[in-house]
Amino acid sequence: MAFLLVAAVSAGTTAALTYREARNAILEQAQDTAVSSFREQAGTLVTPLPPDPAVLRQLLRDMARKSQPHTWVVFAEYGSMRVSSGTSPVSTVITPELRRAALAHPKGTFQRVDKGGTPWLTIAVPTVFRTGSVARPSGLVLYAVMPLATERDNIRAMVTAARDGALPALAVALVPALLAARSVLRPVRDLHRAAQRIGRGELDTRIPVKGTDELADLAHTFNESALQLERSVTELRRAEARARRFASDVSHELRTPLAGMLAVTEVLDEDADRLAPDTAAAVRLISAETGKLAVLVEDLIEISRFDAKAAELNTDEVDVAETVRKTLATRRWTDPGQVATELPAGIRARLDPRRFDVVVANLVGNALRHGRAPVRVRLHTEADHGSEARFVVEVADSGPGFAPEVLPHIFDRFYKADAARTRSSGSGLGLAITRENVHLHGGTVRAANGPRGGAVLTVRMPLEARPAPEDTP
Ligand SMILES: Nc1ncnc2c1ncn2[C@@H]1O[C@H](COP(=O)(O)OP(=O)(O)O)[C@@H](O)[C@H]1O
Ligand SMILES: [Mg+2]
Repeated sequence: MAFLLVAAVSAGTTAALTYREARNAILEQAQDTAVSSFREQAGTLVTPLPPDPAVLRQLLRDMARKSQPHTWVVFAEYGSMRVSSGTSPVSTVITPELRRAALAHPKGTFQRVDKGGTPWLTIAVPTVFRTGSVARPSGLVLYAVMPLATERDNIRAMVTAARDGALPALAVALVPALLAARSVLRPVRDLHRAAQRIGRGELDTRIPVKGTDELADLAHTFNESALQLERSVTELRRAEARARRFASDVSHELRTPLAGMLAVTEVLDEDADRLAPDTAAAVRLISAETGKLAVLVEDLIEISRFDAKAAELNTDEVDVAETVRKTLATRRWTDPGQVATELPAGIRARLDPRRFDVVVANLVGNALRHGRAPVRVRLHTEADHGSEARFVVEVADSGPGFAPEVLPHIFDRFYKADAARTRSSGSGLGLAITRENVHLHGGTVRAANGPRGGAVLTVRMPLEARPAPEDTP
């Protein structure tokens, strides 16, 4: 559309300029011939001064008769005497400006006047006395007044011809112009759509290449870039999949020797009391580190299952309060001064008990390890979340909470905010696994700082576990 607008505006401007040029040319040509021929005739006028009106009228009539191709009326002024070659009152066309200009220009001057819809050319030539080579103004001024009606008609004819001839031609030309515009715009639109599709991740998008012009080149380049992008992304995905498989394979491979080592360290632990103190310390250290390694390997295997989308949800209908209490009891977190609970009975939900146990144990474990007792575990339901009923488990501790710069990362794998405690703390996979488990149920988990500074982790889960689509926060 913009294209057409530009075309129309430029066509209009060209037409207007052409019209003005042509009009001026027609008028100037007429005026130049008239002015020079009148000046010549005025130069040959011989009359006594003051002139006799009757004689002068005859002289003016002669001049008027000789006017060719234009017909003009000649008019003379001498003081208050006014003589005209014709009968029509043409003196009204002569303006005061022309009268003044006539005195200033001894060689004559002219003016174009519009009067009654007709353009008039008025010419003024002052006559002179000649004494030898000296010329003095005689006081007698001759005026020629001619209507430029013929010229006006010519101009009108030109406009009519342009309208009758050029406008249909323009209309006819517009059709191919529109078609051309369409054929230019369509590939551009195609390109735009294709770029949008690429942006949405449809990397196999290609545009048909037609012809050999710049647009075809552009389409070709676009296709090349899309192909490169598709290849790179495929390669990246493959590399990522390889890395994940590697991590999974490694952790599985470590599992068996670790199981053997754990069995041995258990026996050694029991015998440690009977060993020399140095050896006993070494044995206990090896035993503790082996235990941590086993936890890390189990966590890695767990997370690789999520990555491989192989994590299964084995749901069961449970009483949530009871399930939480069982988790705490298994970990011996039963001292109310250590973990205070607020677990109303009667909240039943369909969930995977093993995964829910992992979630609660991770959060309470973190609260005790990274935060400080007393830890408060609160359970309640939430109905105002759309139509879906949810239950909420909130774990709040009395520790320092999260530093603001840490908050966005705590669910990242291997992220440990407190570097100094790195050795004593867990794998750094706990919260990552927690989040995967919650998402698997179609729930959410949020971390924040409580009003009195401790960390608050809030898990929201639907009463009926419903696996969420990929990448739900
Ligand atoms: N309750 C908490 N208070 C303060 N910091 C916490 C708390 N829970 C987790 N964090 C921080 O988040 C990090 C990640 O936690 P997590 O993934 O469970 O790893 P890990 O417990 O193995 O270190 C922790 O290392 C710790 O710095
Ligand atoms: Mg942890």
